[in-house]
Amino acid sequence: MSARILDGNAIGASIKAELAEEVKALRAIGVQPGLAAVLVGEDPASQVYVRSKVKTCEQLGLYSAHIAPPASITTAELLALVAELNARDDIDGILIQLPLPKHIDSKQILRAIDPAKDVDGFHPVNVGLLSTQQPGLVPCTPAGCVEILRRSNIPMEGKEVVVLGRSNIVGKPVAMLLMNESATVTVCHSRTHDLAAVCRRADILVAAIGKAAMVTPDMVRPGATVIDVGINRVTDPKLFEQLYAGDAAREKQFAEKGSTLCGDVHPRVMEVAGAMTPVPGGVGPLTIAMLMYNTVLAARLKRGMAPSR
Ligand code: GUN
Repeated sequence: MSARILDGNAIGASIKAELAEEVKALRAIGVQPGLAAVLVGEDPASQVYVRSKVKTCEQLGLYSAHIAPPASITTAELLALVAELNARDDIDGILIQLPLPKHIDSKQILRAIDPAKDVDGFHPVNVGLLSTQQPGLVPCTPAGCVEILRRSNIPMEGKEVVVLGRSNIVGKPVAMLLMNESATVTVCHSRTHDLAAVCRRADILVAAIGKAAMVTPDMVRPGATVIDVGINRVTDPKLFEQLYAGDAAREKQFAEKGSTLCGDVHPRVMEVAGAMTPVPGGVGPLTIAMLMYNTVLAARLKRGMAPSR
């Protein structure tokens, strides 16, 4: 048996099409939602992510400001930039791409963002609203995981969910969202005893640990749904061979680029799972779609309008 593929590109495209319509209607009444995407320094992976966020804004008719201060910027200077963006009328959402350089106090920066413009949902006010089930801005990748399940008609209520990873960006908020969907949620991490046995309990397994192919077939209950949040670049030919030998498309890509993107889930889990998100093309496109959703939502709420859904 081979798992049903949960196609994030297709689901992300439907969400973006809905948003494009909504933005058109908003612009007709003089409202253009705007996103400021701040990328400090020149990390190549972050550059790719931020470029793709800005490009998607353009596709959907949102205003975007791409701000790229040098890695030498100080915490005080970045705080001043955040204050300026908080005050700007044309900016509804502020995104500070993480990770920030080590000399910057990231927690202080995230706390300085106006919670009403915090489209990443990382401000403690939004974290608190999520954990107490009140309306707020929800982190994009976790919201994307739930949206994939919802739009694929995979029930969450009463299901055993195991989340691998306890990060503030994915693990904790996705656990919170799934609890709010009435799932029974277990969060595992590097110190969890007998990880494989805990994972095998899952009807829905969410892998957000940041380690290529860490979730092996023996960790997955046959028929389970697997959501793979990992994006790991594999460059080691030996590891590539172990994971993708016989996959002609991957082999061609690896030969041309010297690397391929691998999730946290081993490709052979496809033979055990009932449904699974691919990497690339699974959760990734949803992160951007939900960022656009949050920016439009922030623009509506700022003007006293109700959420569209
Ligand atoms: N770095 C990795 N994921 C994210 C994210 O969702 N938002 C931001 N701002 N930075 C990230």
